[in-house]
Amino acid sequence: MKTFKIAVIPGDGIGPEVINEGIKLMTRIAELDGRMKFQFTHFSWGCEYYLKHGRMMDEDGIEQLKSFDAIYLGAVGYPGVPDHISLWDLLLRIRKEFDQYVNIRPITLLNGAPCPIVGGSKDTIDMLFIRENSEGEYAGAGDWLFKGKPQEVVLQTGVFSRVGTERIIRYAFETASREGKTLTSISKGNALNYSMVFWDQVFEEVGKEYPNVQTYSYLVDAAAMFMIKDPKRFEVVVTSNLFGDILTDLGAALAGGLGLAAGANINPERKYPSMFEPIHGSAPDIAGKGMANPLAAIWSASQMFDFFGFEDIGKQILHSMEKTLEEGSILTPDLGGYASTSEVGASVGEIYTEMI
Ligand code: NAI
Ligand code: MG
Repeated sequence: MKTFKIAVIPGDGIGPEVINEGIKLMTRIAELDGRMKFQFTHFSWGCEYYLKHGRMMDEDGIEQLKSFDAIYLGAVGYPGVPDHISLWDLLLRIRKEFDQYVNIRPITLLNGAPCPIVGGSKDTIDMLFIRENSEGEYAGAGDWLFKGKPQEVVLQTGVFSRVGTERIIRYAFETASREGKTLTSISKGNALNYSMVFWDQVFEEVGKEYPNVQTYSYLVDAAAMFMIKDPKRFEVVVTSNLFGDILTDLGAALAGGLGLAAGANINPERKYPSMFEPIHGSAPDIAGKGMANPLAAIWSASQMFDFFGFEDIGKQILHSMEKTLEEGSILTPDLGGYASTSEVGASVGEIYTEMI
């Protein structure tokens, strides 16, 4: 039996509330299954920690995290700490230091989940977004000159290296090829005349190595429209850091809302731990009320099982979530229900147990 060491960073707001449900489910599944065990170590980093210590995490935080098999993160950010600090000093730092250059965001409309477009179903909304996660528009390159003066100038530079662009596109081709799906690249070569022309060129180059994968290439604005008007055309999708960030929130809305959207930050070489998180934020408006939807955090737990090689369990978790949604009586208010965070978590656990 293998023991997996998981670093838990519950973070701020609803982060701890939803992560707690994921941990309970993982523990229950490990006991039922017997092939694995989890050892959870909690790190109380985040905005509260920042207000006490002036930092989002311990100075040697990255060093402390290195020995774990995975990181399970709630959400970071809270009123009182500027968002660019909480984001850069914790989340983006971990993504960059651990070279988690692949961000996997499944956008699948589970049966029973609400969809804002007419006729939406699991048949038509079933995409896998692969977002570049280490550079691009979020490389943090730029300058702020003559701050506060009339001649003030700010520069925010996109960084697209050949290595960085090739590896994400190759990862997407590998995924599409393995799953027998089409691959769509989303870029903006008409307006971004350096970075995205380069992106399109690399997509074509790498594509030559995968003649079995049917490809499409869309401009990001058209892609946003097609995601609503004809979502069926997207299967595996590869795109840049910024475009992926925006389009996956659109995707989250298509697939039932932020309470259902998960994301994995992967270091494919497994040299460093990968990080699993719901994609929503700390939701200060509902924090502390026990009404946050834990399903996104639970979906990210299922991605963790996939990553550890237990895809059978990952699938089973999704089935249990789907049954909970279809049954419809134990849901949080964002999905029109009256149940609490822990009631939904417990329901998924019970359905999982019944189904095996
Ligand atoms: P948010 O995702 O926290 O909330 C947006 C809306 O969705 C709110 O009305 C909230 O109540 C609702 N919502 C989100 N998750 C939900 C859940 N699980 N169940 C039910 N309702 C849910 O985004 P917002 O308000 O823009 O940001 C709040 C804070 O979170 C900010 O400080 C921001 O920087 C941070 N943030 C952190 C992220 C992360 O850690 N990965 C991602 C996005 C935002
Ligand atoms: Mg986002």
